[in-house]
Amino acid sequence: MLSYSKKVIEHFKHPRNVGEIANADAEALEGSPACGDMLKITLKINEKTHVITDIKFESFGCASNIATASILTEMVKGKTIEEAEKVTWKQAAEELEGLPPVKMHCAVLAVDALKSAIEQWKEKKGLTDKNPTTPDKVLRKLRNVLNPLTGASIVRMQLLRDFDVKDGVIIIDLDLTSDHKFASHIKEEIHEKLDHLWDIKEVKINFVGESES
Ligand code: FES
Repeated sequence: MLSYSKKVIEHFKHPRNVGEIANADAEALEGSPACGDMLKITLKINEKTHVITDIKFESFGCASNIATASILTEMVKGKTIEEAEKVTWKQAAEELEGLPPVKMHCAVLAVDALKSAIEQWKEKKGLTDKNPTTPDKVLRKLRNVLNPLTGASIVRMQLLRDFDVKDGVIIIDLDLTSDHKFASHIKEEIHEKLDHLWDIKEVKINFVGESES
């Protein structure tokens, strides 16, 4: 049996800021490479002051993930995105008076989802460095696109056959047929991760898998 602090149990039983903000300014659905669980974070951000005026989460993870996401929302609400970005998973775990060592990745997932939502907002507003999008960056983002059936990244599942970034266009070849039951879900996820990049005009997704029949 894992032993949890009183604070973890309290946040798990009464999580703060659960749900989804309608018309959110930023959002991220992040999957944990360690366990495949997912967490969605939505944010309202004041464009002038950069203050996070509202934050909500929906966790499809474990008790530790729910507790960390809950405490994290309390830690960053009212802070600027620049302050919120500096919060580490260790600080969140400390605020919870500790987590079992095997559950640290659940805190990492919560902090990563927040950072990814902030990063997307900054990219949308043109506030990130204006470096051109590189294949490395695209691959990092594609690692967070998950196959909903297995919860594993499409990169790890070897569904990514090829990709290229050229003249503002990202071309992705997926080893799936276009009528695969998750094809449209995965396509949507990819667009969500890549469409907003400041120098990208178009994301083209080709389904190049062979039909089994
Ligand atoms: Fe997956 Fe905790 S085990 S988030």
